Amino acid sequence: VLCWFYIFPVYRIPRDKEIVEDVLRQGEQWQKNHTGIDLYRKLLSECCDPRKMFAVTKENSPIGKVLWYDGEFYHSHTVNNDTYPLFVPDNPLPLPLKKCAVVGNGGILRNSKCGRDIDQADFIMRCNLPPLSKEYVEDVGNRTHLVTANPSIIEKRFQNLLLSRKDFVEKMKIYGSSHIYMPAFSMKPGTDLSMRAHYALADSSSNLTVLFANPEFLRTVGKFWKARGVHAKRLSTGLFLVSLALGLCEEVTTYGFWPFSVGLDEQPVRHHYYDNILPYKWFHAMPEEFVQLWHLHKSGVLRVRVGQCP
Ligand code: CDP
Repeated sequence: VLCWFYIFPVYRIPRDKEIVEDVLRQGEQWQKNHTGIDLYRKLLSECCDPRKMFAVTKENSPIGKVLWYDGEFYHSHTVNNDTYPLFVPDNPLPLPLKKCAVVGNGGILRNSKCGRDIDQADFIMRCNLPPLSKEYVEDVGNRTHLVTANPSIIEKRFQNLLLSRKDFVEKMKIYGSSHIYMPAFSMKPGTDLSMRAHYALADSSSNLTVLFANPEFLRTVGKFWKARGVHAKRLSTGLFLVSLALGLCEEVTTYGFWPFSVGLDEQPVRHHYYDNILPYKWFHAMPEEFVQLWHLHKSGVLRVRVGQCP
């Protein structure tokens, strides 16, 4: 009898407990693998061209260019006289990036004392406009060069920027002169919200710039990981940033990636370092993603920090 799994072989995702055990076995041991780093940079350049494609720019999206949304079925925006002027001319990042820190929002960061380590990186990426107030600085640091902002945050936290533009501009000051990376062409409602965020900052002569994520880049990165066993409906923000960092940085360290409810000391861990609000269950596949990151850690392509920093 031919079993279905002979026809469709599936990888078994290790159970949380097995992952914890493997992380503990590995301990602090980590060795940088230059060949592996170069290989991943090459693979990512070939599939997704992060250098040229990670943001919507005047170079890759001239007037008339059709941008197909990556999170909608058959929906597009044709670049026109209203949208084109909002794009940056070209990749605005100070390439090549040397040491990059990609900071996820996992509760594992609490009491990690990783703030100093993170802040020492040359380029620091964070997810979803996270809090960086005094109480967290020791664990997460306070420097930022690129921070993602999901349009839904603008909708919920800043009431669609209809009345609270000043409040938004004020609150964004904790990100210094970063780029705010927004998926403006992923879902329909995100476009207007991202434009509004752009205008709110530009009108107030803020030091921050809004960068629109290029939907083509998001789509190709999704495919890249799908081919490697990540079967989520959509990748998590954190994995998009890790992919960007692997494509652009000489060295990548991740912090705050730990989508499990127990820590290495078997104590409960909250979902975020600032709250315990869980994601929609089947939307992302964070444990599956972690297995990929952990594999890259073990092969020296990037470093995953899970415990306390020295
Ligand atoms: O937008 P999303 O729900 O994906 O992210 P978030 O909860 O704001 O966290 C930012 C990123 O950190 C996620 O996209 C994950 O990649 C990572 N994360 C993690 O690995 N473990 C957690 N417990 C929470 C977040």
